[in-house]
Amino acid sequence: MKEQTKNSAFEERYQSSAEVVLAWYGSSARDLPWRIRPHDRAKGRRPDPYHVWLSEIMLQQTTVATVKSYFEKFTSIWPTVSDLASADRDDVMSAWAGLGYYARARNLHKAAQVVAQDHGGIFPQTEDALLTLPGVGAYTAAAIASIAFGHRAVVMDGNIERVTARFDKIETPLPKAKSECYNVMDKLTPHGDFLAGDFAQALMDIGATICTPPRKTASGLTAPSCLICPLSQHCAAKDAQPERLPVKLAKKPRPDRHGHVLIIKDALGNIVLTRRPDQGLLGGLDILPTNDWPDGGGQTPEDGMITERHPAHALISSLGRGQILNEEVSHIFTHFRILMKVETITIEGKTPSLADGFFWVAQDELAQRALPTVMVKCLKAARLL
Ligand code: ADE
Repeated sequence: MKEQTKNSAFEERYQSSAEVVLAWYGSSARDLPWRIRPHDRAKGRRPDPYHVWLSEIMLQQTTVATVKSYFEKFTSIWPTVSDLASADRDDVMSAWAGLGYYARARNLHKAAQVVAQDHGGIFPQTEDALLTLPGVGAYTAAAIASIAFGHRAVVMDGNIERVTARFDKIETPLPKAKSECYNVMDKLTPHGDFLAGDFAQALMDIGATICTPPRKTASGLTAPSCLICPLSQHCAAKDAQPERLPVKLAKKPRPDRHGHVLIIKDALGNIVLTRRPDQGLLGGLDILPTNDWPDGGGQTPEDGMITERHPAHALISSLGRGQILNEEVSHIFTHFRILMKVETITIEGKTPSLADGFFWVAQDELAQRALPTVMVKCLKAARLL
């Protein structure tokens, strides 16, 4: 009997917190272009699954503030998933330019084609069916199933991980804490038409505006705004320095790799590019000719130069050497930092033809191409963008 009372108090804490959060969301949900807020749903409006999917793909690794204008652009050029499916891939890539993580754009286009061709232009509704779409993982499938279709699903992203880790004062470091956070979210997530989606979006809003990640300042870590948080009544970390949570293990230092990039420009201002294979780093993107950035411990800048074995060497052999910029360009990827020597080669006279796999692009077209940021940095260093 005693145990039963304890359990029901325990459940009550989750249930009443979920109710307070849903009420807060009813009055305080952010107005986002892809979002149908509860009072609009009460008037019969329903979310457009295409909008929900598109926004969720864009929001992976990108902030709401940046995504808004891209979302407006995509939905005005391609108002439906079938329009997007029949778009030219290069047009999709250029519309995406600037959002980064370009594998998302390639998968977006592929997934639109799957929806158009295999599902008659209608998005599948269940998490399992959504998971079969390119670029849709567990988080996105749960988000779409709950937000667009009103199903109950447990939605976990980085923001929700932080909010739930604090709510239950989970001291286990990430990534081990992930399953504990998931269990908290599962206990909190309400049942009922569209409520799981409302609840997940409420936690995303709380994570972005109230239960914020800590920033380091001279006086220590910045604290979240617990005084205005709808979860604070039952938050276990509220008075225990919530900014400490979730605990993150010290990151392994990122190794350096060395690269050598060629900026080859002809008399008309055209630049040489090459396309990466679809799979792997920068997959499917147009890049400046460069070495392979091999992953080898103890690399030196010399290891990172284009060697005779590399296809780009054919360019140097036929076109001659140029000048290496004084400024080395660096860029951070998830698992390493690349430090690049940028060699600019200017061709006088007639534009030469190129070895297989390389092509000329007009300089004023570069800005519209979905060039990866690392290549944009090289072109900027050479004052070509
Ligand atoms: N971040 C990721 N998905 C989101 C959504 N649907 N609303 C607000 N922020 C988000």
